[in-house]
Amino acid sequence: MSTIRAAVTGVGHYAPEKILSNADLEKMVDTTDEWIRTRTGIRERRILENGATSDMCAKAIESLLKHRGISAEEIDIIIVATVTPDMFFPATGCIVQEKIGAKKAWAFDISAACSGFLYALVMGAQFVETGAYKKVVVVGGDKMSSITDYTDRNTCILFGDAAAAVLLEPSEDDSYGLLDYRMYSDGSGGQYLYMKGGGSACPPSHESVDKKYHYIFQDGKAVFKVAVVGMADVSEEIMERNNLTGADVDWLVPHQANLRIIDATASRMGLDASKVMINVDRYGNTTAATIPLCLSEWWLDGRLKRGHRVVLASFGAGYTWGGALLRWSLESPGKKS
Ligand code: UT7
Repeated sequence: MSTIRAAVTGVGHYAPEKILSNADLEKMVDTTDEWIRTRTGIRERRILENGATSDMCAKAIESLLKHRGISAEEIDIIIVATVTPDMFFPATGCIVQEKIGAKKAWAFDISAACSGFLYALVMGAQFVETGAYKKVVVVGGDKMSSITDYTDRNTCILFGDAAAAVLLEPSEDDSYGLLDYRMYSDGSGGQYLYMKGGGSACPPSHESVDKKYHYIFQDGKAVFKVAVVGMADVSEEIMERNNLTGADVDWLVPHQANLRIIDATASRMGLDASKVMINVDRYGNTTAATIPLCLSEWWLDGRLKRGHRVVLASFGAGYTWGGALLRWSLESPGKKS
């Protein structure tokens, strides 16, 4: 029996125009550009002033469709990974479906925080690999500014807004596409990174608003300690399972939460910094969007090329984490955008 692999055959992203710089944040909370840069690597992030997560996801998918040269009506499935859905229901996937006119698709959301894109990618690939569907769009999008407390210096310096999408289709050659993955969860980590209010455990009330339960809470130090080990471990595991050394890997695409976590992962993999996709300096942590946003930018400017071996790695709330190995199948578009 021949193997059907799910390959990335399209990619696109959207980042809002408005920039929130470290200098802007210095005027809002007790922080400094120097502290933010040295502790996180972030210089600026994007903020969506008008609209919702679905608007960014729709724009990312429209850009993808334009590059791929197909219409929205050809999409079979839309999977949106997000922790900032437009609303609890209907799914943001259905809202996106309506916005782009993907009339024949079925659509849903998944919630795995910063690992959301990776979880959705692996899930989307199953539909392609079984032969059940041929065109699956996986989009990671988060309007983190909608759940960020801009009076809390512990969190407001970290997050930004963006969306990015990939299209999965059956690979013509089974040496291309999603070759391997390992995904993990550990619910005991839930207490260190969460948004308490709004769900069935703590429905919205005047009290929940007064107590700021509708904002992100993070015990940064606790998350840092496990993220740095979790992301490095899973990346190493992916390399070992596939008999790869640092020399065999063309790109590490890590979740962009903190430059220090990224550096530690690259160093454990024996990878030179020149093989690591990093844009946390320009976008901050865009949660489910970070990994596809890197893929889209690096593909667009020609650095990510057909045949490249790419290791994706993430760590986030849940805890959720994972790693994946892709062999990139899309031809480079060169310098056009
Ligand atoms: O994406 C999902 C997964 N999330 C992550 O991977 C994030 C993991 N955590 C981190 O990236 C880091 O822990 C942070 C960047 C969030 C924080 O860096 P840190 O080096 O762990 O700092 P800290 O929280 O231990 O704080 C050190 C000090 C504290 O002061 P004291 O208690 O030592 O006097 C904080 O109050 O820095 C203070 N601080 C700040 N100072 C200036 C915290 N935030 C700020 C700030 N500006 N924005």
